[in-house]
Amino acid sequence: MGTLPKLHFLLLISTVLFFSMPQLKPVVAQKLYANSRWIVDGDGRRVKLACVNWPAHLQPLLAEGLSKLPADTIARKIREMGFNCVRLTWPLELPINETLASFTVTQSFQNLGLLESLAGIKSNNPSLINLPVMEAYKSVLTSLRNNQVMVILDNHITTPGWCCSEKDGNGFFGDAYFNPQVWMQGLHKMATMATGFSNVIGMSLRNELRGPRQNVDAWYKYMQQGAETVHAANPDVLVILSGFNFDTDLSFLQNRPVNLSFTKKLVFEMHWYGFTEKKAWQSGNPNDVCKAVSNKVMNQSVFLLGQGYPLFVSEFGADERGTNVNDNRYMNCFMAMAAEFDWDFALWTLQGSYYLREGVVGVEEFYGLFNNDWSGIRNSSYLRRLSVLQLPFQGPGGRQTVAHKVIFHPLTGLCILRRTRPTRLVLGPCIYSEPWSHTPQNALGLMAGKPLYLRAVGLGRPATLGTSPTEPGTKWEMISASEMHLSSMAEDGSTVCLDVIANNTVMVEACKCLSSESSCDPASQWFRLVDRTPL
Ligand SMILES: *[C@@H]1O[C@H](CO)[C@@H](O)[C@H](O)[C@H]1NC(C)=O
Ligand SMILES: *[C@@H]1O[C@H](CO)[C@@H](O)[C@H](O)[C@H]1NC(C)=O
Ligand SMILES: *[C@@H]1O[C@H](CO)[C@@H](O)[C@H](O)[C@H]1NC(C)=O
Ligand SMILES: *[C@@H]1O[C@H](CO)[C@@H](O)[C@H](O)[C@H]1NC(C)=O
Ligand SMILES: *[C@@H]1O[C@H](CO)[C@@H](O)[C@H](O)[C@H]1NC(C)=O
Repeated sequence: MGTLPKLHFLLLISTVLFFSMPQLKPVVAQKLYANSRWIVDGDGRRVKLACVNWPAHLQPLLAEGLSKLPADTIARKIREMGFNCVRLTWPLELPINETLASFTVTQSFQNLGLLESLAGIKSNNPSLINLPVMEAYKSVLTSLRNNQVMVILDNHITTPGWCCSEKDGNGFFGDAYFNPQVWMQGLHKMATMATGFSNVIGMSLRNELRGPRQNVDAWYKYMQQGAETVHAANPDVLVILSGFNFDTDLSFLQNRPVNLSFTKKLVFEMHWYGFTEKKAWQSGNPNDVCKAVSNKVMNQSVFLLGQGYPLFVSEFGADERGTNVNDNRYMNCFMAMAAEFDWDFALWTLQGSYYLREGVVGVEEFYGLFNNDWSGIRNSSYLRRLSVLQLPFQGPGGRQTVAHKVIFHPLTGLCILRRTRPTRLVLGPCIYSEPWSHTPQNALGLMAGKPLYLRAVGLGRPATLGTSPTEPGTKWEMISASEMHLSSMAEDGSTVCLDVIANNTVMVEACKCLSSESSCDPASQWFRLVDRTPL
């Protein structure tokens, strides 16, 4: 070893680290289980689902983007972007309507007049054009399997098309297009089909329940039957259940558990967008709104983690142009909670554009990772920021490491790191964070070696490290309604907050936007202490 040039040594180390990350292991032949709130592999090690949504439930009945890129290329790029999983949607009619299922891809696109897309499919995915649409769906599963991408099959809607509205007849059991018996036939067929695909690790039984028919008794009756149907056809998959009001509300589970004949396979899913709260984010003070919405989300769904169920946040995301204030503020709050609770997730969304959406050809998707023509990534800083969530912070099965904190900055998706010579505190990837501890005296210390404590010397100065937790400026409180401003009393007697400036240096500044103002955005001063037990 000693004779190897340094560079080779580093490469070797990084290769070993790379392959020892659990979620980057090949996963295609694996069954997953629910073990308390964690999704784990057969050895009991956590597998964090870092998924992206890939719709195949719209009228053309084909996963989006295949007119722009080969399916294998899309699957490979999903891995390259750091995701290990796809939530692949399907409309109920795909397995149950024989007329529709008999269409080839060519017929399906011709029927809709999508000749330009068809030409694109012919050049990018020539093997698909004469396949029946169900075979094309399976071919996408094969491409994902070949690239070691896990899949969750999501029954998104009944009638192929854009989802969802209160009045589309697809919202709840008993609606015009939502017959529970037909739904169970479809689940049975898809679950049976999935036995041929070891990478299909879960099934999301129905997307975004909604509308006037919603009621708790029908939910238990049909969701339990649906779960049993899937499990009987395919006992390998996780069974994923969604809640009321567009999958935002699972609070009814607080006092009535689901009763199933099988164990270790049950997962719940929820959706959380900026627009879930209409325009609340931009019309209120972000500290206040974040507090109120976090409490609500806690009550409606996140409590399930505490009850010992995995929670799959199967839709969230933001307009990547950065100009939607409501989305931007929501995302800062979302990132804090997503890191803290370390839930499994599926980003909305992969596609840069649609073949056809709501009657319009080639609609651009500003929440999509790909750009409009799928030639590249829409916003690489957005992806970089989200990438912190792709790796687990916590979970069973790793080496035994003492639990500690990292100091997470939701706005950037980075953590506070120490740089030496000269000593500075900067933001950088959380995986490089040294272990911080939060002492009973409210100091934030780096305890490896000679202890050092986060310290505020004075306004407008970089944050620094002190050697004693009794020095001025080393006691830190989480203030404001959001409890995300890290505040201290500096040596000069002023109350200060940590902040971050353009070059990612951690600074000591006046606390900003603590309450009431709605025009002011505090996010550069938001930090959250996140528990970490590295795998
Ligand atoms: C099946 O699909 C065809 C073609 O889209 C459609 O005309 C028909 O109404 C569908 N049948 C049912 C029962 O949904
Ligand atoms: C759970 O379901 C089983 C089988 O249907 C039934 O026998 C049992 O009474 C149910 N338990 C509860 C608490 O509802
Ligand atoms: C959350 O639930 C608790 C206890 O049930 C209740 O006191 C609180 O008001 C709820 N908060 C929200 C925002 O719904
Ligand atoms: C990417 O997102 C950032 C942050 O939201 C924004 O400032 C930037 O303008 C976006 N870039 C593009 C190309 O949309
Ligand atoms: C970043 O800004 C701080 C404060 O102005 C300064 O002390 C530091 O040298 C800067 N760092 C770099 C790398 O430019």
